[in-house]
Amino acid sequence: MSTVNSQQLSLRKDHLCALPFSGMTIGARGEVTLCCVSPEYPIKHLKDIPDLASFYNSAEMEHFRTAMEDRKIASLPACSRCWQKQNAGQADFMTDVNTWPSVSVDFDGDWELRKQNRPRPIRYLEYTCSNICNQTCSTCNSFYSSKWRDIEQEQFSEKERQVFFRPVHEIESLNDDDIQKIIEILPHLNQLTIKGGEPWADKNNITILNAALDVNPGCSFTIISNMQAVSASTFRMLEKVRTNDVKKFHLSASIDGIGKVYDWIRGGSFEKTVKNMETYYQVTGRQLTITPCISIHNYFHFEQILDYFADKEYVWGINLFNVAHGPLYVSPLNLPPLIFNRRRDALREIIPECARRIEKAGKVLFYESILNDLRLLRPFSLKDLRMSLQWMEKMNQIRGFRLQDHVPELREITELVS
Ligand SMILES: C[S@@+](CC[C@H](N)C(=O)[O-])C[C@H]1O[C@@H](n2cnc3c(N)ncnc32)[C@H](O)[C@@H]1O
Ligand code: SF4
Repeated sequence: MSTVNSQQLSLRKDHLCALPFSGMTIGARGEVTLCCVSPEYPIKHLKDIPDLASFYNSAEMEHFRTAMEDRKIASLPACSRCWQKQNAGQADFMTDVNTWPSVSVDFDGDWELRKQNRPRPIRYLEYTCSNICNQTCSTCNSFYSSKWRDIEQEQFSEKERQVFFRPVHEIESLNDDDIQKIIEILPHLNQLTIKGGEPWADKNNITILNAALDVNPGCSFTIISNMQAVSASTFRMLEKVRTNDVKKFHLSASIDGIGKVYDWIRGGSFEKTVKNMETYYQVTGRQLTITPCISIHNYFHFEQILDYFADKEYVWGINLFNVAHGPLYVSPLNLPPLIFNRRRDALREIIPECARRIEKAGKVLFYESILNDLRLLRPFSLKDLRMSLQWMEKMNQIRGFRLQDHVPELREITELVS
């Protein structure tokens, strides 16, 4: 259960985000940002930062904190989106962050040190080592996945790359110096979040986690992984979760379907992924969370995901919050309104019913925000729907089998439109 236990933060949570007062985010290209929702506003590049702790206490970072303290958050381009949403009473990242125990627990002490112009340690770090990945999800691209890069280069014509807005992104990776800078700040972290690329596909994550689990087992860890391939050395590192008694180790597995639907969406093997999740539970003694990305490809396939994982011992809960809005051609919002709304209304009944079953099995289903998010925001466009179907055909070619053979609703829509 998340709680704000900081007096100073409670007083200011309507005009201040705790993240710049707690740490920073580092992207695969070395860009340092305030958080993961503002990648287009890098503050500096990691190669130009000799050490992260000094940078954290520098005037460059203080600029953001002072603006927030002076109620000028609206003037910060990186923060204006959160600020506008919070002001409109909508869910946003800033509101969520301000409830995290990992950023509030030391907030008062650090606030006091800051007032005395004394240095504070970095408490929060989110990083992505590289865009190295072993899957090619139908919702993703080469910005996040090196495997997508190969396919975009080899199996797409120039015209297709343009039509589907897929510039080929090169492989990007933090270097040894960058990794060392991260290792130096591990001892004082309250929260370490690792994204990707695919975390288990990059050995630098194993190096960093091996160090972090030894020097700071009290830290809270969050890792977002596809769980497609977990090497013996990764499992050896993960053994430390149990042996070092790491209490807060949260693994979120991105699972977008069951069986062949999973294989199609993710370009991986469902069976292997399940095996890895079982082994993860045996090795660490920790359950994991299933987090599907909801797209037009699995909009009619929810129940199967919920049913399959409802009683699995290795599952702690299922998190339904992530709707793919971009690229537009993977969004469920491209469906004809009648079909979209009929399904959404059915989900309003189906999901709470699933939640009750999942709760009975001692697990949790988070779903409140999803029912709110599944709302048509613009008029229907046949052109956009055709584009979604075109993308499915391209993916059918890449996978060597048809998604429509496993999702009858998509078969009907395809027949209707063609
Ligand atoms: C880019 S991945 C990186 C971590 C890891 N490779 C994985 O898939 O879990 C992070 C998350 O983004 C989700 N995702 C993929 N495509 C998306 C899209 N178009 N919109 C929103 N989320 C997406 C994935 O399902 C995953 O949970
Ligand atoms: S596994 Fe993650 S990074 Fe890789 S293609 Fe899928 S969503 Fe993208």
